[in-house]
Amino acid sequence: MRTTVGIVGAGPAGLLLARLLHVAGIDSVVLESRDRAYAENRQRAGILEQGTADVLRAAGAGERMDRTGLRHDGIELRFAGRRHRVDFPALTGGRSVTVYAQTEVCKDLIALQLAQGGPLLFEAEALAVEDAATDRPRVRFRHEGVEDVLECDYVVGCDGFRGVARTAFPAAVTRVFERTYPFGWLGILADVPPSHDELVYARHARGFALLSMRSPSVSRLYLQVPQGTDAREWADEAIWDELDRRLATDDGWKLERGPITQKSVTAMRSHVHEPMRHGRLFLAGDAAHIVPPTGAKGLNLAVGDVVTFARALTHQRDTGSSALLDAYSATCLRRVWQAERFSCDMTALLHPAPGATPFEERLQLARLERIAASRAAETDLAEGYTGFSFD
Ligand code: PHB
Repeated sequence: MRTTVGIVGAGPAGLLLARLLHVAGIDSVVLESRDRAYAENRQRAGILEQGTADVLRAAGAGERMDRTGLRHDGIELRFAGRRHRVDFPALTGGRSVTVYAQTEVCKDLIALQLAQGGPLLFEAEALAVEDAATDRPRVRFRHEGVEDVLECDYVVGCDGFRGVARTAFPAAVTRVFERTYPFGWLGILADVPPSHDELVYARHARGFALLSMRSPSVSRLYLQVPQGTDAREWADEAIWDELDRRLATDDGWKLERGPITQKSVTAMRSHVHEPMRHGRLFLAGDAAHIVPPTGAKGLNLAVGDVVTFARALTHQRDTGSSALLDAYSATCLRRVWQAERFSCDMTALLHPAPGATPFEERLQLARLERIAASRAAETDLAEGYTGFSFD
């Protein structure tokens, strides 16, 4: 098999890249190790920056998002029993975000790709990326029990944190920057209308809690839990009781409960793989970087990467200049590090670290007070949350 761009992985990065290339008239083949049902149901975040929603629309993948996604003009911060709303449009010159689950983005892009795009192979496991430093890179893969080779002009690794693409980078050119956290998030999906119309980020002495949503009838909620927690340790009623405690306010706000339909623990880490390009192999999304979920940045970063790659390759085809492809890693990493900074700051702001001193606890509260009291501090948060430019 032969193609211009071999794409490893059919998460949002790989699927959107295939779509952007198709729109630009560049052919690609997508290899995904899991089956379609798995690819369409991987539970991840659900916040689209305005720039991300604009890209999906421009790619012809925004119809259902515009019909069923929820536009959010702010978030609520809770601490010390108080609530403070951050008004995004007022602070950022009109920007907002859209609540639309990653699972739905993937379903939309898979349907488009199968109807109009190039090959998208499920249960096609990439085994290795070879000859990345030559102008004929290849992906070795296994599909339906048979080994095969995909010959490419370019390979883009969109195969996540544990994918094979990054292992094709020689150790001598690779640097990894990493931070781990001594806690994770226990996440639930529940069949109950969200108890607030915007996301609520709560800092409590017992730990962080987040109220989010998937639709007007489905809530998504999270609790900070110690690293290594098994979701089965938590009975449903214990989860609701703990959410009640951490989200409680002084003004009688009430959390509605409902049947919990899914329960899982997400580890938290910050991770950056530099550079993001080696020869004709490019990394995009989680294959290159992980952010803790507190900033809601993971999916948006992946979109930024593939937009940058698609533009760079189109530029090369149209002008013969490889300048933008050569700049890919540096261009992406500037945005990636801003998102890493924002995600770390949001995590530190809202999660009491195990063993934190009383001094650190007071500092955390003082930082939240500052955001509530200073338009400058609040604007910094609103700008970070609504997104860093793709240019
Ligand atoms: C989610 O809805 O899953 C979600 C929302 C905001 C975050 C993280 C996760 O910061």
